[in-house]
Amino acid sequence: MGLPGRRSPLLGARRAAASIRRSGRLPVYVAGVFFVASVLLMFRDEILYLTTARSPSFPTTGSSAGAGVLARGQEESINKPVVLRGHGGKPEKHHSVTEGHHGKVGAKRRAPKKKATKAARKRAIVTATGAEVNVPETCDLSKGKWVFDNATYPLYREDSCEFLTAQVTCTRNGRRDDGYQKWRWQPRHCDLPRAFDARLFMERLRGKRLMFVGDSLNRNQWESMVCLVQPALSPGKRYVTWWSEGEEQRVVLHAWEYNATVEFYWAPFLVESNSDDPKAHSIRDRVIKPEAIAAHASDWVGVDYLVFNTYIWWMNTLNMKVVRPTGKTWDEYDEVPRVEAYRRVLDTWATWVNDNVDPARTSVFFMSVSPLHISPEAWGNPDGVRCAKETAPVQNWRGPLWLGTDWDMFRAAANASRTVSATARRVPVTFVDVTTMSEFRKDAHTSVHTIRQGRVLTPEQQADPATYADCIHWCLPGVPDVWNLLLYARILSRPAAERVV
Ligand SMILES: *[C@@H]1O[C@H](CO)[C@@H](O)[C@H](O)[C@H]1NC(C)=O
Ligand SMILES: *[C@@H]1O[C@H](CO)[C@@H](O)[C@H](O)[C@H]1NC(C)=O
Ligand SMILES: *[C@@H]1O[C@H](CO)[C@@H](O)[C@H](O)[C@H]1NC(C)=O
Repeated sequence: MGLPGRRSPLLGARRAAASIRRSGRLPVYVAGVFFVASVLLMFRDEILYLTTARSPSFPTTGSSAGAGVLARGQEESINKPVVLRGHGGKPEKHHSVTEGHHGKVGAKRRAPKKKATKAARKRAIVTATGAEVNVPETCDLSKGKWVFDNATYPLYREDSCEFLTAQVTCTRNGRRDDGYQKWRWQPRHCDLPRAFDARLFMERLRGKRLMFVGDSLNRNQWESMVCLVQPALSPGKRYVTWWSEGEEQRVVLHAWEYNATVEFYWAPFLVESNSDDPKAHSIRDRVIKPEAIAAHASDWVGVDYLVFNTYIWWMNTLNMKVVRPTGKTWDEYDEVPRVEAYRRVLDTWATWVNDNVDPARTSVFFMSVSPLHISPEAWGNPDGVRCAKETAPVQNWRGPLWLGTDWDMFRAAANASRTVSATARRVPVTFVDVTTMSEFRKDAHTSVHTIRQGRVLTPEQQADPATYADCIHWCLPGVPDVWNLLLYARILSRPAAERVV
């Protein structure tokens, strides 16, 4: 059910760049550099804007109406200690609990131990003997196309997922079209599972921890995962804790019946940075320590499924500030080219993975770049305003889309993941390419149907997408559900027992 192709003429300078590109005479990179330069300027504004968004408050007990924000705002919202009423109505200091609608309040850090019920044991047997997913490890899931499929999508309904924050509930925030929820990704060389079987997935997670580590896009994906597994969790036996202690920022879904957790861990650069502090950071002045990862990574030890990402916080300048080897404070830094710093970080990360992950127990994934859609000329819509007026994916597009995605960083991450796998210890890392598929999804960002400073945008703000549209994060249900379907396919296509590497 494809939509007509979008190949209306490009405008102005970009038209020139594109036609040069198309003619194939002049080196592609001349056009590319030109275009990237213009996109970069926009990037900068976009990210600075997003990072000035202030924090909302989080949902409190018994309420599903909550909030999160963008980039820094979102981070703050995660970091911000939320006071809640625990047992006996006493405020808990460092962490909060978001309960399901019917849930009991509890502020425990760990799900209590629970014996598998008979039914659950039976399910486990069924799971072990068949009905597993069978997506070949060798099938490249990044190549394919979006197919309109309103029979099976969305995979859940926005208003039935009790843990979604107001940042991503686009319909509730006034978005009228819902076509963006109804696209299935069809890989070229194999099929993805049609549905996300929450029980099957939770059986695999029984007694285990799944953790997303990274920036607000990874949290976007965490929110999606929580919604996808929710049908397998009984009301009252699922709850989310948010807390902030020192430099830790974490959100955890506890699934009591499975003694399992689905967690998000805030580390926007993976390594240590001055942006790890919930209260004192600034994206303009962000500084990283590319070789220092231990402070975060000690919290990742022993997790069964680790899903990393890091990208958006790198994007507003071409250089990155890195603390000098001898530096004692965040002020003693050098500026190095972004991709160079990125490689150093990935190197540090890969070394940590090799030295600390037991491949017999833990599966490691690295999510690729989540693209931005802030320049509609790039997909041939000169009347567009960022991503605000888009209601369908890019279809029938020939050639590359020049969205400003940093493919050098993409490749560096892909290479780092490969390198981990190729060393003697052979800790396998699955690099999950979501970039290519997501580049087509100009229609699926939160745009003006999101929050700012903790509140849903006002009608006046919504009428001004040039200023307020968020074309970084994604509505839910939506694109991150498909990212999670890729994880689901990879995880369930492997034997439940320890994998042979
Ligand atoms: C799916 O979309 C088609 C075409 O737009 C429409 O005719 C049909 O009623 C839709 N089905 C559902 C279940 O929404
Ligand atoms: C619950 O899960 C943890 C790991 O997250 C594990 O150490 C513990 O043994 C599990 N408990 C039961 C009763 O399965
Ligand atoms: C890939 O990673 C390895 C190890 O970090 C590095 O030596 C190599 O130069 C990288 N290759 C590319 C093309 O980035």
